[in-house]
Amino acid sequence: MNGRYLPHRDAGVHIEDRGYQFADGVYEVCEIRHGMIVDLSRHLDRLDRSLSEIRISSPMSRAALVGVIREVARRNRVNNGLFYLQVTRGEARRDHVFPAADTAPSLVITAKSTDPKIIAAKNTNGIKAITVADNRWDRVDIKTVGLLPNVLARQAAKESGAQEAIYVDTRGMVTEGAATNVWIVDREGNLVTRPAEHGILRGITRTTLKDVAQSLSIPVVEREFSREEMLASREVFITAATSICFPVVEIDGITIGNGHPGTFAEKIRTAFFDIAE
Ligand code: PDD
Repeated sequence: MNGRYLPHRDAGVHIEDRGYQFADGVYEVCEIRHGMIVDLSRHLDRLDRSLSEIRISSPMSRAALVGVIREVARRNRVNNGLFYLQVTRGEARRDHVFPAADTAPSLVITAKSTDPKIIAAKNTNGIKAITVADNRWDRVDIKTVGLLPNVLARQAAKESGAQEAIYVDTRGMVTEGAATNVWIVDREGNLVTRPAEHGILRGITRTTLKDVAQSLSIPVVEREFSREEMLASREVFITAATSICFPVVEIDGITIGNGHPGTFAEKIRTAFFDIAE
């Protein structure tokens, strides 16, 4: 945290941190698998983009950041898990406009182990989702910590006995999950996902999955699809660094395909770590 390694319980940000007051910051979540950080350069490229879109300067060089991330994972003995990295515009007396140019951004990096049994159970059984109206702002391409709509959507999913909320825009087209990208297998056997140009975060897992599909000669089509097409599709799955590729077997109480995880999701998951860097 801001240049120091601290025990988790002692790491606190100032009450006037702009992340705390305004959600004025960006973040990344990245998977650690068998001690390797999956797709690290793509995540750090996206971090640089998010920072530059909201005009926060980089807290440290790429090489230094990679060193710190590895050290945090090592100190927490995380072999399989996630790291979380957050940069905010720093501490300043509350004022909506940017603070003085010499205000240092705040950097926090944490790492935690994940339970492979929980992930395996989701892959074997599939998950349930609900759809919700996409009520987020227009710049969902920036991975900002302003996640209140996502929090409310995930909570609504939980309260309906589901694990993910899938956003649908005002035209009835699927955008993405509260913390995942959404894929369907269409009638022709194509993997379909919404183009990243508008309405979604350009997920790193989504990008790598396109390489994986290509290596398996599975056609990928980037086009919009509606809630109705999704409900009638052969297979639905969601992707994120935290879940790689979870099959979705029920949406809004409607069974997807035959109600069991599909073969595409499994094939892709199996090949994923051969391709991811
Ligand atoms: N969320 N869309 C949204 C809105 C997300 O928050 C995420 C990731 C994704 C998938 O992106 P990636 O493949 O790069 O993880 C798509 C992270 C995991 C989170 O908020 O915990």
